[in-house]
Amino acid sequence: MLWDRIVLLLAFTHLAASKQPSAPSSVEAPLRELPWGKLNFLHTTDTHGWHAGHLREPQYSADWGDYISFAQHLHARADADGSDLLLIDTGDRVEGNGLYDTSKPPGKYTFDIVKQQKFDVVTVGNHELYINTTSLREYDDVVPGLQDAYIASNVDVRNPKDGKLVPLAKRFRKFKTKNQGIRVLAFGFLFDFSGNADNTFVQRVEDTVKEAWFQDAIREMGVDLFLVAGHVPVRNTQEFDAVYKAIRDVKWDTPIVFFGGHTHIRDYRRWEDSAYGIESGRYMETIGFLSISGLSSSGKDVAVSTRKNPTYKRMYIDNNLYSLHHHSATNKSTFDTELGRNVSKQIKDARSELKLDQTFGCAPHDLWLNRAPYPSNDSLLTWLADEVLPDTFGDSNSSSNPAIVITNSGALRFDIFRGPFTTDATYLLCPFKSGFRKLQNVPYGAASKVLKTLNNEGPIPLKDLLSFVSDQPGCGKHRIDDLVPHLPQVAQSGVPTTQTFPSVKSDEQIPFLNANKDKDKDEPQVPGYTTRDDAGDGGDDTIHQPIKFYAVPNCVGSEIGFSSSADSTPESVDLIYNEFVQGWVLLALQYLGVSYGVENTRSALEGKSMTDVIKDWVGENWQCEE
Ligand SMILES: *[C@@H]1O[C@H](CO)[C@@H](O)[C@H](O)[C@H]1NC(C)=O
Ligand SMILES: *[C@@H]1O[C@H](CO)[C@@H](O)[C@H](O)[C@H]1NC(C)=O
Ligand SMILES: *[C@@H]1O[C@H](CO)[C@@H](O)[C@H](O)[C@H]1NC(C)=O
Ligand SMILES: *[C@@H]1O[C@H](CO)[C@@H](O)[C@H](O)[C@H]1NC(C)=O
Ligand SMILES: *[C@@H]1O[C@H](CO)[C@@H](O)[C@H](O)[C@H]1NC(C)=O
Repeated sequence: MLWDRIVLLLAFTHLAASKQPSAPSSVEAPLRELPWGKLNFLHTTDTHGWHAGHLREPQYSADWGDYISFAQHLHARADADGSDLLLIDTGDRVEGNGLYDTSKPPGKYTFDIVKQQKFDVVTVGNHELYINTTSLREYDDVVPGLQDAYIASNVDVRNPKDGKLVPLAKRFRKFKTKNQGIRVLAFGFLFDFSGNADNTFVQRVEDTVKEAWFQDAIREMGVDLFLVAGHVPVRNTQEFDAVYKAIRDVKWDTPIVFFGGHTHIRDYRRWEDSAYGIESGRYMETIGFLSISGLSSSGKDVAVSTRKNPTYKRMYIDNNLYSLHHHSATNKSTFDTELGRNVSKQIKDARSELKLDQTFGCAPHDLWLNRAPYPSNDSLLTWLADEVLPDTFGDSNSSSNPAIVITNSGALRFDIFRGPFTTDATYLLCPFKSGFRKLQNVPYGAASKVLKTLNNEGPIPLKDLLSFVSDQPGCGKHRIDDLVPHLPQVAQSGVPTTQTFPSVKSDEQIPFLNANKDKDKDEPQVPGYTTRDDAGDGGDDTIHQPIKFYAVPNCVGSEIGFSSSADSTPESVDLIYNEFVQGWVLLALQYLGVSYGVENTRSALEGKSMTDVIKDWVGENWQCEE
């Protein structure tokens, strides 16, 4: 093929694989073919600082430099066959990985890494707006650094010079594709988010589409495609539905494409034959691909009566070199481009500057947050409740009384893999900096029921607990979402993708994945996503073995220093919990008949955070074999 040869010219002939040196090699697995079309898109979202790729999971082990090489090869393919390629990112590039979180200031290295990719449309996510310094850096560096690509249709920032609200980036963008001259009108939205710091303003999408600038923009003549990018889920989405309706009210047949994010899933939704949207997962696991063929382009407007619907296709690419080589028709020696290799080195240098490979101990086996039932030996939460918390609070002088220690399972974010437990791993596992709090001498009768209440197994459902106290001062801001663990979300048509209120039975399996089938040699061996979306179940590039996910309780707890004789229960205990659930613990106690205020609580473990507790426990208990 011609484009193969062009790709070869780009490539560097050296033998080292790119990706990060400590990353595992990808594994061969059966692949589906990329549905290349006339207008093609690569889409990333919710990368959360994982630009080094997954250093412990072969299936997602390619890094941002590899993604750059990949995009360059596909650009060469588009130039060779007269098609087009556009690159989209829909926000939450920050927070959630040591590469971003451990530098001072956070993100010192990541922006220079991210901006090496040549984007066409980029939007802001909620994580870019939680802290005022993060959004200011977007305004000062990222927006100008990405040139025309950054679009903020509904987000303003307070200009630090005069305190006035100004658009974070331009509201929309009109451009023509390089090879076919397809005229694209692009918007960039953030969902109706209200948890931002007070130096930014997010206008509801439903209100934004009523503004004059938006109404004027969608009435522009000569638009071949509306491109709506957003940090917004594509399904169950009042925001994208409002944009869809606003456009359709004035342009009844111009094709629309949506790029979404935020819920960390793979998903693809059909609004109608001329309007589809893709959501491309999380954490650099997935590079989303979408193609549209059959669009009209500049000067070649087709009469309405002869116009046919364009064809949309999608694929979720697993971010590893085996997949990236295959879809770019390259191999180990032809894949790396000079820029891609430079960026991989930039990442490697940043990681070593930040000492992310510093090792505290070695895990003897994998521990899973959702991929093993709770309780079980492979459960991360069992390990936390039965080993880490008792060792930490039992041996210390933090409590001379018997104690009950409670933590929400949402405090842990990721699995632990067998082998070195590094600085990197601590940030993936637990990025939260809050410490533990303690209430002393709580009547045992009430204290012993708190865990069950928080797990929705008590006499009153959590929802009712909320309404019971919602008119109490200081309690109204609690939401159930803050407490319940987030399941890895797998898209499935017609089934809500967010498990908003999981049942707590430990053996309950989430029904979206098949039960264990007998292992067959012909069945796929690499575990991973098995996505079902509006186009069926053929969207994942790799044919995966389904993974089972288990619901886990909202909170886990340990009883510490109790007398071993079964019939003696203490009269009172110390109740220790991580700070994040303090509001819930106080609510539960209040309902259970004993009232405490925040002023009755005190710091436990001298403010040591969960991250430090785990790091120290690993250092003392998990030796590495030399
Ligand atoms: C950012 O927020 C902090 C407090 O959270 C405040 O002290 C600081 O002045 C704010 N900076 C700007 C530039 O808004
Ligand atoms: C990679 O591809 C090039 C061009 O197709 C070929 O000449 C070379 O032998 C291949 N190398 C490997 C290691 O497969
Ligand atoms: C890659 O890095 C080298 C060495 O720093 C530099 O000379 C070269 O210009 C870079 N190449 C690209 C494409 O950025
Ligand atoms: C779980 O671990 C305990 C203690 O190490 C061991 O006695 C038990 O056999 C293990 N159970 C399973 C099912 O592996
Ligand atoms: C207990 O307290 C003593 C004195 O404050 C201290 O030296 C010791 O290290 C503490 N032990 C633990 C396990 O924290």
